[in-house]
Amino acid sequence: MKVRKPLVAGNWKMNGDIVSNEHLFTALRAALERASLSQVEVVVCPPYPYLGQAAAWLGDTGIAWGAQDVSALPNGAYTGDVSAAMLVDLGCQWSIAGHSERRQLAGETDDQVAAKVSMCIAHGLGVIACIGETLQEREAGETEAVLGRQVDAIARALTGSPNPLPAQRVVLAYEPVWAIGTGRTASPEIAQAAHRFVRERLAQRGYGHADATRILYGGSVKPGNAVSLFAMPDVDGGLIGGASLVADDFLDICRGAAVA
Ligand code: PGA
Repeated sequence: MKVRKPLVAGNWKMNGDIVSNEHLFTALRAALERASLSQVEVVVCPPYPYLGQAAAWLGDTGIAWGAQDVSALPNGAYTGDVSAAMLVDLGCQWSIAGHSERRQLAGETDDQVAAKVSMCIAHGLGVIACIGETLQEREAGETEAVLGRQVDAIARALTGSPNPLPAQRVVLAYEPVWAIGTGRTASPEIAQAAHRFVRERLAQRGYGHADATRILYGGSVKPGNAVSLFAMPDVDGGLIGGASLVADDFLDICRGAAVA
């Protein structure tokens, strides 16, 4: 039995519409009525326009909802940005920060990701901060250097805040870029080694709750590989992309986290 309660978060990315979301929400609710998933914390992260829909469907279920990104800035003339305060206003309990697609496609830097983490902390919004190396970096033997640099920036945000978040609201997600949406999953051993490194690094950088921090694995998690990944001692659940859009698959993965 792990001391950290597993967490499974669905990252819907830029997918869905009102009708298809309703099917997903209905299936999640129905599954919860059949069997509680109380041993696992479950979060879904739809696109911004559907956060209100998530609130309406999930408000009384125990499933939390969150955003896929958050502004690094408080408020003001930042066209297109959505602030942490707005997310809290919409009932979000979580936001993802620093997903590799934001780092790669929107050019987010480690410092910007750290600023987003700080913004979540300042508003009491739980944060799922993502890290991970590219295939090129892994093949060049740079995995630990890259993860170390990314974790250091997040650790600065975590240790620099006057009102830190409770440890159960701080989540890291190790998502090797080469495993995201590719069908190629890190082996449980590769994931465990990276997670162990990340946890030790957080502690070395002065974050006092490294042992209580959940570190999720993300990258082509499916019902068939979830249990073996989640069984690793430092893998505390998953951040699920593609499979989170298929209700049965997502629920199987959540159940996998409960048994692992
Ligand atoms: P995937 O995405 O499960 O589709 O690989 C994971 C993620 O990007 O969070």
